[in-house]
Parts: sequence; C-alpha cells; structure tokens
Amino acid sequence: MKKLTTLEEYIINAQNKFPGARGDLSQLLRDIALAAKIISREVNKAGITNILGLDGASNFHGESVKKLDLFANEQLQSALGRSNITCMVISEENEGVVRLSDESGKYIVYMDPLDGSSNIDISATIGSIFSIYMRPENKKHLTESDALQPGTKQVAAGYVLYGSSTIMAYTTGMGVQLFTLDPSIGEFILSDKEVRIPEEGNIYSTDEGSYIYWDEALKKYVKYCQAYDPETKRPYKARYIGCMAADVHRTLLQGGIFMYPDSSKYPNGKLRLMYECNPLSFIIEQAGGLSSDGKKRIMKIEPTSIHECTPVYIGSKGNVEKLESFFQA
Ligand code: AHG
Ligand code: MN
Ligand code: MN
Repeated sequence: MKKLTTLEEYIINAQNKFPGARGDLSQLLRDIALAAKIISREVNKAGITNILGLDGASNFHGESVKKLDLFANEQLQSALGRSNITCMVISEENEGVVRLSDESGKYIVYMDPLDGSSNIDISATIGSIFSIYMRPENKKHLTESDALQPGTKQVAAGYVLYGSSTIMAYTTGMGVQLFTLDPSIGEFILSDKEVRIPEEGNIYSTDEGSYIYWDEALKKYVKYCQAYDPETKRPYKARYIGCMAADVHRTLLQGGIFMYPDSSKYPNGKLRLMYECNPLSFIIEQAGGLSSDGKKRIMKIEPTSIHECTPVYIGSKGNVEKLESFFQA
C-alpha cells in the first residue's frame, strides 16, 4: 500500500532539512491550512446554510462583497493571529494594513481570502491566495511602505482551491507541492511533489468578451492562438474559469497561458500585484514557467501601493515567450 504523507509531516520534514530553523514559517503554513479547512467546510455547505448571496455591503474597491469573502477573511486573520509570527496582514478585503497583536512578528502576509467570488453562487471553483514576506530587520514600528517589497522577496506563497476537491499548493522556493484534502479525516495529503508545468501548452485563457477593449498586439496574439497549424497544436483550446487561482492551477498542470491584460476598460489590468499576481507567479516560476506583464517579469515590479493592479500573462515558458514577442513587434 502507498505510504501517505500529510501536510503536517511534509512541513516538518522540510523544516528538519534546515538545522537552525525555528519552525515559524512551518507554523504559519499550518495556520493557513487550518483556516483553509474551515473555509472549505463552509464553502461545501454554502447553499444549505444560506450563506450565498450578497451581504448588502460593498468593499472599498466598490465591489459587492459576498458573505463568504468576509468569512474567509476572518478565518484567515484569526488563524494568523493564533501565533505571534505574523506582524501585519494585507488583505483584499481591508483597505489598510491590519496589524496583528504582536508587532514583533517576523512575517508580513498578503492574501486574497476568496478569489473568484462571482463563482460562489454557481458552485464553481473559488480559492484563497497567500504570499509571505519577511518584515524588515531592526525596525520596531512598521509602516505600510515596509510591506511594499517586490515578488522576488517572497519567502513562501500558495493557494487553496475549493473545487471538486480542495487542494493546497505552496512553495517556499524549493519547488511546488500539492496537497489534497481528505475531508473524512480532515487532513491535507501530499498528492504531487515538485510539480513541473509543461514547456508549452495548447490552452489560452482570458476573457475574450473584452476583445474590443484590447490593444492590437494582444488581438493579434489571440488570432495566432486560433490559427490552424497542427504542428504547433493550433488552434489552441479556450478555457476560462473566472477565478485566477483556478485558471492558473489548470495552466500549472496542463500548460498554456492565462492572461488578464491592460485594456481601455482597465488601464492597469484588473488583477492585484501583491495578493494575486506575485504569489501565483512564484508558484509558476518554481514549476518552470514564466510570468510577465507583457514586457518584464511580474516578480521584479517594485510595488508602490498595497492594492495596485498589473496586467499579467502567466504560464508555460514557450507560450509566455511567444506572447511577449507580439508585444515587442
Ligand atoms: P476576486 O473574486 O478576488 O475579486 O477576484 C476575481 C478576479 C480573478 O480571480 C479572475 O481571474 C478575474 O477577477 C475575473 O475577472 P472578469 O470577470 O473581468 O473576467
Ligand atoms: Mn481575486
Ligand atoms: Mn477576493
């Protein structure tokens, strides 16, 4: 019989490879996993408990906030508050930084507690995304600008998907590991180690309904994806879940490209650099893929505000390089 490895075991084994490690990052990942299990349980019974639908409020971005967004935000923040490891949380659902009780905590955590909220009411896949940075050393009182670090400084990142099964993917810079939740025993079980994204894929993923708002280079690239050329497996297939974490997860496993461009409707794109694009870029790069804003590496962007947006093109190396060649032409 195959030996099962739980997330807890995997994290402890990984930590033991670093003799001096105090286990803080391991604890942080376990706290996130605990919140994820609670969110997963709530997502699965969402229809029954009448948690579906708007809670009547808008968040500060002017988007309607769903009850599950708030629930996920609370659960993740309370899990992170259990140990004195995190000093600051930046969430899509909070306008400013949230300071946790112990300001000396070692890590700064960014999160999108519930990604793909428009999928809630149709029981389609949604997710949670997280990104972890070190607090600056030798600084007592942190300000928001201490959280503005480029994606290359992430010490860990990952996502949890609440889909036909609940899975957690994370990286600490040593490859990407995938865990699947077995709800009957309440444990995440290792399902894939050191995942590699295909070098090239035949799926493109974007909201093509927004074609009219795009610039010419992107229109041409999408026409390239649709052209007939069996040697390069074209025409590609189109897939769009409308939940970046889920679209990127499919791209990780099957290859291809996910795109949320800038456009005349969204001049800086719509997706958030710090809690959507950077963590998913860290995952994809760790699996051998690329993530670009069309011209440069997403993780090299120097952030200027915690909620800023960026265009993003992410996926297999071959596909992202091809896309970039259209922007250079
Ligand atoms: P969120 O639910 O956290 O606001 O994020 C939704 C995002 C992202 O996950 C998805 O890729 C994108 O919005 C979908 O946007 P469109 O509806 O414009 O396609
Ligand atoms: Mn999101
Ligand atoms: Mn969200």
